This record gives sequence, C-alpha cells and structure tokens, in this order.
Amino acid sequence: MSLVYSFALIVLPFLPGFDGYLYHIQRECRFTSGDLKDLEFIDRYIFNKVEYARYNSTENKFIGYTEFGVKNAERWNKEGENDRLHTGLDGYCRHNAELGVQYILGHSVQPSVKVKSVKSGSQRHSTMLVCSAYNFYPEGIKLTWLRDGKEVKTDVTSTEELYDGDWYHQIHSYLELTSKSGETIACKVEHSSFSEPKVFKWDPSTLDGERNKVIIGASGLVLGLILSLAGVIYYKKKSTGRILVPTS
Ligand SMILES: *[C@@H]1O[C@H](CO)[C@@H](O)[C@H](O)[C@H]1NC(C)=O
Repeated sequence: MSLVYSFALIVLPFLPGFDGYLYHIQRECRFTSGDLKDLEFIDRYIFNKVEYARYNSTENKFIGYTEFGVKNAERWNKEGENDRLHTGLDGYCRHNAELGVQYILGHSVQPSVKVKSVKSGSQRHSTMLVCSAYNFYPEGIKLTWLRDGKEVKTDVTSTEELYDGDWYHQIHSYLELTSKSGETIACKVEHSSFSEPKVFKWDPSTLDGERNKVIIGASGLVLGLILSLAGVIYYKKKSTGRILVPTS
C-alpha cells in the first residue's frame, strides 16, 4: 500500500493577452508501510505541466530535468537549499503521515450489502441473483453464496473488487439460481470491518415487490381513467339538462 500526500502550492500568473501560464509546486510525502521507514519528501517544480526540477529527500538533493532545471538544481544544492528542505521530511511529512496512518490506514468501513434478483437467468425457470457490497474499506473481501447454509460453488461469477476512486470499493457476485422454492439463499460476507462473517438473506418477495409496483401503478391508472370518465359523463349530463334562457 502506498500513500501519497500531495499538495499544490502556487498557481501563477495570468498575463493579459495570453491563455495563461501555470506554475505550481507539488509537495508529496510518500511511504509504503505504516512504520514510515521509507518516508520520502518530494517537492516537484512544474511549469506548464513540465516538471523541470525535483527535490528528493532520500538523496537530499535537487535534480534538474530541463536545461533550466539542471542549472537551478545545481545552484540550489550549492547554496544549501537542499538541507533547508530536508527539514520538511520530519517537520512536515512525518507528522502528516502519522495522522494518515492513524486515521485512514488504521480504519475499516463496513460494506453495505444488498441481495436481490436482477433478471431471469439464461435458462427457463432460473433467476439471476446478485450480492452487492458497496463502500467498504480497505479492499480485501470475500462473498460466498449459501444455499440452506451450504456453500454454492457452481453457477457463481463475480466482478473484481472495483475501486470507486474515493478510498471505497465495491464488488458484485452473481448466482444463477434454478432452485425449488423453499430454499434459503444467502450471501456470506467476510471483511476486516466485521468481527465475524455476516450473512445476508435473499428475500424472494422482493421479486414480487417489483411486480407489485407495476400492479399498483396500473391500478392507479385505471382508477384515474374511470374517475375522469365519470367526471366527463357527469358534466355532459349536467350541461344537457340545463335550459338556456335566451336573453332579450
Ligand atoms: C528519490 O530517490 C530515491 C533514491 O535514488 C529513489 O529510489 C526514489 O524513486 C526517488 N523518488 C522519486 C519520487 O523520484
């Protein structure tokens, strides 16, 4: 696992008549393990997306990548700017990295799990079930299908653990079910955020739930039509019954 703290320092300047130039310094605290043994402080100097120089605390020196960068790196190293920046390793990075380890790497977040049927399966009388685990941290999860408490190994497919891009992950496991009714189908989830594996049962009535929604919607539509029709008939009756009195 690698954690990089990154931090843009300067965004400068915009000159009239030009689209603008972008100068920024990107500060990184890099480490791959919680003990911070390989903690590294990096300062990147970037002009218009070109990194022309970099400070690297492991070497405790600036390195130039363009002619301009090489010239400046030499000068900064000679003037002792490297030693001044090196204090950032402990003064800036270590503290933030410790907080990161403590508050992020040291934590886990339980997945929210849903078990439902998605569509009918490839064969007749079969159903495709999906067990979805969302928003868990860290990665490393195991989903197992249980049929009456026994593990199902066939007709199971799964996605990889998908990274959401916000520290959280998700995964989806599919079971093609060709079962007699009455069996209990469940999805067992093992994750470091649970003290023991957690079992989530599939509720077959959710299948009817979808159907019920359609029935309720259709009934509402029919009822609405009947009422409007009644309204129209009532209105017609009323207006034909009215006697128009001619004026003058
Ligand atoms: C910093 O320097 C060390 C030693 O040369 C190197 O292993 C590491 O990859 C460098 N880090 C970066 C981000 O350039």
